[in-house]
Amino acid sequence: MRQSYRLGQYKQIALGHGQCCLDLEGALIARDRVGIQDFVLLDAHNSETAFLDNLKKRFTEDLIYTYIGTLLISVNPYKELDIYTKKQMDLYMGVNFFELPPHIYALADNVYHTMLSEANNNFILISGESGAGKTEASKKILQYYAVSCPSSTLLDTVRDRMLMSNPVLEAFGNAKTMKNDNSSRFGKYMDIQFDCQGDAVGGHILSYLLEKSRVVHQNHGERNFHIFYQLVEGGEEDLLRHLGLEKDTKRYSYLVQGECSNVSSINDKNDWKTVKNALSVIDFDANDIEHLFGIIASVLHLGNVHFDGDTKGYATLNTNAALRWLLGIHVQVLHEALTFRKIEAKSEEVLSPFTVDHAIYARDALAKAIYGRAFTWLVNRINESLENKDSGRKTVIGLLDIYGFEVFSVNSFEQFCINYCNEKLQQLFIQLTLKAEQEEYEAEGIGWEPVQFFNNKIICDLVEEKHRGIISVLDEECMRPGDATDLTFLDKLEEKMGNHPHFVTYKLADKKTRKSLERGDFRLLHYAGEVTYCVVGFIDKNNDLLYKNIKDVMRLSKNPIIQQCFPATEGDSRRRPETVATQFKNSLLRLTEILTAKEAWYVRCLKSNDNKQPGKFDEVLVRHQVKYLGLMEHLRVRRAGFAYRRRYEVFLKRYKALCPATWPHWKGVPSDGVEKLVQHLGYQPDEYKMGKTKIFIRYARTLFATEDAFEICKHELGKQKRTQKRHFNFFSYIISMFIKGYITRREAKTTDNSEYLAFVRQSYLNRLKDNLPKTVLDKTTWLTPPPVMTETSEILRQLHTRMMVRKYVRGITPQKKAQLQQKVVTSGIFKGKKDSYPSSIAVPFVDTRINEQDINMRVLQTIRHERIKYSVPVVKYDRNGFKPRPRQLILTQAAVYLVEEAKIKQRVDYVSLKGASLSNLGDSVMILHVALNDPKQKGDMILQCDHLFEALTKLAMIANKQNNIKVVQGSIKFEIQAGKEGGVDFSVGQEPMIYKGKNGHLMVVAPRIKSR
Ligand SMILES: Nc1ncnc2c1ncn2[C@@H]1O[C@H](COP(=O)(O)OP(=O)(O)OP(=O)(O)O)[C@@H](O)[C@H]1O
Ligand SMILES: [Mg+2]
Repeated sequence: MRQSYRLGQYKQIALGHGQCCLDLEGALIARDRVGIQDFVLLDAHNSETAFLDNLKKRFTEDLIYTYIGTLLISVNPYKELDIYTKKQMDLYMGVNFFELPPHIYALADNVYHTMLSEANNNFILISGESGAGKTEASKKILQYYAVSCPSSTLLDTVRDRMLMSNPVLEAFGNAKTMKNDNSSRFGKYMDIQFDCQGDAVGGHILSYLLEKSRVVHQNHGERNFHIFYQLVEGGEEDLLRHLGLEKDTKRYSYLVQGECSNVSSINDKNDWKTVKNALSVIDFDANDIEHLFGIIASVLHLGNVHFDGDTKGYATLNTNAALRWLLGIHVQVLHEALTFRKIEAKSEEVLSPFTVDHAIYARDALAKAIYGRAFTWLVNRINESLENKDSGRKTVIGLLDIYGFEVFSVNSFEQFCINYCNEKLQQLFIQLTLKAEQEEYEAEGIGWEPVQFFNNKIICDLVEEKHRGIISVLDEECMRPGDATDLTFLDKLEEKMGNHPHFVTYKLADKKTRKSLERGDFRLLHYAGEVTYCVVGFIDKNNDLLYKNIKDVMRLSKNPIIQQCFPATEGDSRRRPETVATQFKNSLLRLTEILTAKEAWYVRCLKSNDNKQPGKFDEVLVRHQVKYLGLMEHLRVRRAGFAYRRRYEVFLKRYKALCPATWPHWKGVPSDGVEKLVQHLGYQPDEYKMGKTKIFIRYARTLFATEDAFEICKHELGKQKRTQKRHFNFFSYIISMFIKGYITRREAKTTDNSEYLAFVRQSYLNRLKDNLPKTVLDKTTWLTPPPVMTETSEILRQLHTRMMVRKYVRGITPQKKAQLQQKVVTSGIFKGKKDSYPSSIAVPFVDTRINEQDINMRVLQTIRHERIKYSVPVVKYDRNGFKPRPRQLILTQAAVYLVEEAKIKQRVDYVSLKGASLSNLGDSVMILHVALNDPKQKGDMILQCDHLFEALTKLAMIANKQNNIKVVQGSIKFEIQAGKEGGVDFSVGQEPMIYKGKNGHLMVVAPRIKSR
């Protein structure tokens, strides 16, 4: 369980203190219920029995896939399992390798993501013996990429063509054998090309050594290539008529030798339709199709050409019927080519007749050549349709599905080549995993406990070594002058290989072994087991000779595919063409080079039983395969060593975001950065080792936990980036809207300026909030509004004023209130009329200016009953002569009094008081006008009062004379007595003065008031 905590820990590093969303342990626990999903976790990892038990336990639960680290083991279930649905594909897409149960999709997905993240080339080597499920596995991988890779119309075409190349190549290159009803009789290596976005953009196929001998000969229980049966069984009436074929496979001698043209697992009619459809997807037009099937039909017709012997034993043709259908070549020319050999002797050509056997040999050689070359043409043509001409950078995933190791009761040259190929691939596997593993540990200075494994190099050398290997001996025999035969070849082998531990013949064998050998056999002890080969046919098949005159005749064909297959340039070279085995050896060498330049992934297919029986687990058979595929050794290496290693630079580049010290840049040496990083992640000392150039991680789980953390971190970083981008976009939008809004700010509201105007409004309101007038009387500081806010500003200003007023009003005392009410009256009478009014506003009114104790007692006694309301000192000017005299002006409820000490000098009741006049200037003179209807009544009062506004306001209010106070410009007339008037003239001067003017008027000079 320790690992699960560690995983959580890594994730927390990535998430801060976020939640864990994946549960690796869950998958590990699931393993225990159905056996162990990864052999690396097997306790008894040295026990073959435990290994088999685990495989069997899982197989019986229909769990056919199991890992050894990243190597996938697949056991053929021989039944349809519900694990290849679209839903399953979706499940495995982008999920870490060990999070879900083992599956071919998990491997395919892992390879794909490794390719994308590391931008490197990869290949998947699918191996196993014939019928183990290699071709099925490769198809599943291709189907997975077809669904999981990004798609577009263009890519869909590439994808469909890649998928459809399969049924076509299987029709032409697969056949029923004793081991497998759909056995690949050619090797296939397919590159799937991806662009840097991970789109599948093209493909290329390399084919290896088609088993041509099958065209002319099939063992009992086996068939020719599928396409022959498909054409005959499924071909449309018209087509068959056009090709001269009958709808009966038994009519063709090339199809009847195995005596099993009908197989229950194969539906040739349906397959025909699939192939026809596939051909059209791969861009074959009607002409291509007609010519291609013309060739297939020709091969069948050729097989039906029978020879009789004449009296001398030479071959003759009793009917030319079949020749009619042969590739549009003149019948007579063909007839001659099939019964005579042209020998070039010095300057002339001599025709040498064939014996019957010879003619049959020549006919079969031609059939094989036609079919073999047409197959090569087909592969090239498919490659044209898959080709991606774009020169942009591509990475590839290679899929190698090559014929599996096979052992029949009689094994010939073909099995020798096939098994040699498997030997080479095993060697590659050893080199790339076991040996390379050890060497790398040594090179990196990491301690290594040697793991014993069988190195099959010794067998590869036995077959391919220059001048000494079996192929060299065979080639020598093929080329040497004289009568080389298969038996002389065997002699040579015995001579050269006599002591080799992996080689034995009847002659070389001990008594016991000899019992199982024929005289014409040789036996090789392959890595996968013993195989006895019968030498018959080795020389011929290796030579694969086609007489020159037959080739020349082929060039006369009207079929354009045949013309391409037999180019005129072919016969030019005097050099002998390479033998089949040497060609094959060289092509395998090139394949090895292609593969070693890529990162390797493995699918090891196992056959569960020999009878194609669903659900049967033949322990002996499986144990044998586990052994020769070196699976136990592979497991031991995995357990002894480290599951993962990466160059420091690569590791750091990928995971640096997981550690603050390495993110975003590590400036030091990469290995130091990696050390910092893994310490930050909390790797335990036993989990990793630092090599010279690489970090080695012991457990896959440690790595996957790191990878999970990285995925989450990447997600977070992506989110941050996206947020930044969103902010950037937002700001640039705001700026552009601001500019547009500014330009159109005076226009009516539109989508362009609405945001700007909103901004202007908000900004004004914000500024206004901080700059409001503080007092009711402060009328100047109201912020000037932008045009869009004029109306609002005015409403706000009024509201604010009202609010301040209300606040002010609430805060004032009853006395103050009374005073203010008086001030309001004052304002109503004088505001805007008299120059000295503004300066009076701020001067508060008082109740009275003369206390009662300062009024003479006698006066008081006289007027008290009228209730004194207000008193103020004044200067009274005589109506005649204008002599100034200080007086007290007393206002009672009923009348106004002018008092001098104890004397009431004048009383005017309010009824008799007509009103008051005063100038508009800054002086403080007032005239109280008296109604003179009573003869005792004195005239108007001319008074100067320092509290002019206060006195007049009190008078106006007490006597209810608000409307009778007049502000006058220039001069005021007054009544001295009834019928006699005087005047007061007002003017502005330097000094305030009051004096009697020459015109007999009172002259009042008011001070100049600046603010006017
Ligand atoms: N995953 C699978 N699920 C169901 N059936 C399978 C699976 N794999 C293989 N088979 C069955 O086994 C048969 C043989 O498989 P396949 O043709 O892939 O073998 P092969 O390894 O390519 O053999 P050869 O070397 O002869 O070409 C298939 O036709 C199919 O019936
Ligand atoms: Mg196959």
